[in-house]
Amino acid sequence: MPIIARPDEFNIENLYVDLSSVVSQSLYLKCEGFNFAGSIKLKTAVEMVDSAERSGLLSKDSTIVESSSGNLGVALAMIAASRGYQFVCVTDVRCNTATRELMEAFGALVHTISEPHPEHGYLGSRLEYVQKLCSSDSRNVWLNQYANPNNWIAHYRRTAPALSRDFSGLDVLFIGAGTTGTLMGCAQYFRRNRPDVTIVAVDSAGSVSFGGPGGPRMIPGLGAGVRPQLLDESLVDDVVLVPEYETVRTCHQLASHGYLFGGSTGTVVTGAVQWLAENRPHRNSTAVAISPDLGERYLDSVYEPDWVQRNYGLDVRSRTTHGRPLTASGAVE
Ligand SMILES: Cc1ncc(COP(=O)(O)O)c(C=O)c1O
Repeated sequence: MPIIARPDEFNIENLYVDLSSVVSQSLYLKCEGFNFAGSIKLKTAVEMVDSAERSGLLSKDSTIVESSSGNLGVALAMIAASRGYQFVCVTDVRCNTATRELMEAFGALVHTISEPHPEHGYLGSRLEYVQKLCSSDSRNVWLNQYANPNNWIAHYRRTAPALSRDFSGLDVLFIGAGTTGTLMGCAQYFRRNRPDVTIVAVDSAGSVSFGGPGGPRMIPGLGAGVRPQLLDESLVDDVVLVPEYETVRTCHQLASHGYLFGGSTGTVVTGAVQWLAENRPHRNSTAVAISPDLGERYLDSVYEPDWVQRNYGLDVRSRTTHGRPLTASGAVE
């Protein structure tokens, strides 16, 4: 019976969904959304705050400032509330309403950027604003998830060893790339301890992280308009880019089987299925994909039919349940 004294002490690290009956491949999904922050970013936030406390960077009158598309913001807002810090999150208009409201419920101040930087997109504008905040008040402390080694160390210490323990025969691991903290932590761990494991990065089409051309992206979490400072491509065996309309389709496919996951999970699962079909056509490998969060925060975007129609021209109202079409009344024919 787990009993905790602080919200960051609880995290389910060993829950996997066997997706073989949902997608056309043998694939396990490592679920990272079962903690009080609702995402994998809990681990990053804990590691960065603990380290800043140990080094004296954070003191009791500090205000934590961070740029986040959402989930790190929620995790930091929760930890700040629990440990008595002020927290300011700098996000942009793509941040889900539910995510913003969650941060505010924890007592955080949320600043939403509405103008993208002409060259570096919304992330460029967010970073400029954070720098302004930090130079205006010495109590403001930027943990900087984009460059802070504790971001990848969190996954080197926790995510990757858990995966390695749970899958002794692991062959391929699929990891979404945002700041690339998860990707780099897992890639470093497996390169050092089990170099036989193939590491495949999955990114959104329109992200510049792996050298592709920048383009519009609406779903927060994966991809970047500025190349991630933590990324070392030599640790990655392959990269798959997934357009957002495919992300949305996969999210709805998972939902039609009773699994409501966040947008990044749709991207990573799509990339994994495509990569496995091309590279392991005989379905004889042990493959795991990492799911960063669950779907409730995306009810007004990925799971909102008008939003999906407007942004991708897809009609998700006509989606099927277990391959059977829905009738107009919603009943399965
Ligand atoms: C929804 C979502 N997608 C993608 C990621 C990518 O993670 P990273 O920033 O470690 O690359 C995260 C990280 O927590 C996330 O919360």
